[in-house]
Amino acid sequence: MGNTFIEPRPTPLALLLLGHDSDPGSERGVDCPGDLPAPSDPGLVERARAAKQALGDRVYILGHHYQRDEVIAFADVTGDSFKLAQQAAAHPEAEYIVFAGVHFMAESADILTAPDQMVILPDLAAGCSMADMAAIAQVEACWSTLAEAGVAETTIPITYMNSTAAIKAFTGRHGGAVCTSSNAEQSLRWAFERGEKVLFLPDQHLGRNTAVRELGLSLDDCVVFNPHKPGGGLTPEQIRSARVILWKGHCSVHGRFTPECVDEVRERVPGIKVIVHPECQYEVVEKADAVGSTEKIIATITAAEPGSAWAVGTELNLVKRLALANPDKQIVYLDRTVCYCATMNRIDLPHLVWALESLAAGTVVNRIEVEADTAHWARVALDRMLALPGPVAARD
Ligand code: 13P
Ligand code: SF4
Repeated sequence: MGNTFIEPRPTPLALLLLGHDSDPGSERGVDCPGDLPAPSDPGLVERARAAKQALGDRVYILGHHYQRDEVIAFADVTGDSFKLAQQAAAHPEAEYIVFAGVHFMAESADILTAPDQMVILPDLAAGCSMADMAAIAQVEACWSTLAEAGVAETTIPITYMNSTAAIKAFTGRHGGAVCTSSNAEQSLRWAFERGEKVLFLPDQHLGRNTAVRELGLSLDDCVVFNPHKPGGGLTPEQIRSARVILWKGHCSVHGRFTPECVDEVRERVPGIKVIVHPECQYEVVEKADAVGSTEKIIATITAAEPGSAWAVGTELNLVKRLALANPDKQIVYLDRTVCYCATMNRIDLPHLVWALESLAAGTVVNRIEVEADTAHWARVALDRMLALPGPVAARD
């Protein structure tokens, strides 16, 4: 079968400044309307408390583990993206779900909640650079390439939660499912019961780590599809012989950790254990003692022996809170240079106060609403994930 040339599509809005201009179709770069209180306002904590109290049971605040302390203080529940998706669905009494997290999480919450519930993202510029690495037009073009190679019918798409609703809907339409870092193994096993190959979107590292370390496939079973190259940069033969086709996306935070960081911390703190998130590169995960989602990292460190030392490879807000919550253990950040997730940190106390006070005054701001057909098919893919057996414990 011939390989039709498919024009590579550039990722849209690569240079849009955070918080300026607007592109509702992107995971980032949307203006924040309204008058934000000044970050220096000494009354912010009291204002947040008063607005939350005034809203009572009408509001439920979800906080991802990477959020700032000042925001986590007001969360009704904290969790990883899997737990927060479950929690969004489990609170039908709340008129407003305020999502202290990023745009793709708020979209999923909107899809999983009742039509009369409103999901609010306090700063619309809180996107995700990884989710931005896969645009729906690029994914459609990739699927055409797989069809040209004669494998689309036997390929099951699996998309990481960190993707737009449009890509979740694509996955649902093509017989696939969503996964999170808590259940990527179960999702891949589920997919291989239904097809011969998996197209894993958009995080190549989570896909590779899961396929090789959890399912026992080889590195050679995986190929990387680069949406910026004709045919993904792959020959039809490479596509046909692969078991897992990994999208060329990554997390800008977890991608910073290198195998040298692991060597360096082991030399600096003898006996230290290293635990990392599966969004880290394969070579880093291979050198670590344990790997798991944010929820698993917390559980592992909480249960660890007093006096033990841990280097943690995930977002810094979480690592700092882990260090404070575990004074009997030595907790260090895996990289010597500081790195927060810039978009998670967009949600700060001024944005939270503004959102809560607006809701309390009867003005709905920053509502995240997914279009009906997209929401329907994305829900199909999300429901397939939620029906999988529970997350597997972190592996030693
Ligand atoms: P989890 O919440 O699944 O651990 O993922 C981390 C992350 O990068 C969320 O953006
Ligand atoms: Fe996206 Fe990485 Fe930030 Fe998570 S930590 S929101 S994957 S950029």
